[in-house]
Amino acid sequence: MWLLALVLAYLIGSIPTAYVVGRYVYGFDIRRRGSGNVGATNALRTMGTFPGLLVLAVDALKGILAVWLGQAMGGPWLAAITALVAIIGHNWSIFLDFQGGRGVATTAGAVLAMAPPVIFWAALLWLVIVVFTRYVSLGSILAAALAPFLMLFFHRPWPYILFTFAGATLVIYRHRPNIKRLLAGTEHKLGERS
Ligand code: G3P
Repeated sequence: MWLLALVLAYLIGSIPTAYVVGRYVYGFDIRRRGSGNVGATNALRTMGTFPGLLVLAVDALKGILAVWLGQAMGGPWLAAITALVAIIGHNWSIFLDFQGGRGVATTAGAVLAMAPPVIFWAALLWLVIVVFTRYVSLGSILAAALAPFLMLFFHRPWPYILFTFAGATLVIYRHRPNIKRLLAGTEHKLGERS
């Protein structure tokens, strides 16, 4: 049962939404445009607002579904693991030769399903940083870093707290190219199209 849940979670996470919209609606490979990231921010950057929001919603839904799947098939511990596996699928998709995104939207969806107040405060921090700096990546990194402490603050179950520490670590790890660009002053700003 657990193995089936893990396989399903990985396949759900692997659905490369930004790639599908880019390839089948706009006719290009998003991995070769903008930041090359297969995610909502790069969809927004290279395709526009609506595609960006669509990718954000579908990628978040993958995280929500992974949590519900784990909860239904085993409970909180399995939900924490299926959520993590879905993020791994998103970041290293079986449909894209193990390429993928940074996992922000899928992590946010999973956290939303586990603890709505946590995503509220993390999203608020993200918004403030993005509005003031126009660096989406900086907002994602700092919101991800805050989320586990919010989970602790709101007394969520241990599997969810541990998941959020692991998810945040993955998000930050996947932002290594962004961190290099931020330090070099060459990071893309929101609103700059490519
Ligand atoms: O969610 C990913 C975002 O934080 C950065 O995306 O395309 O600027 O690398 P991107």
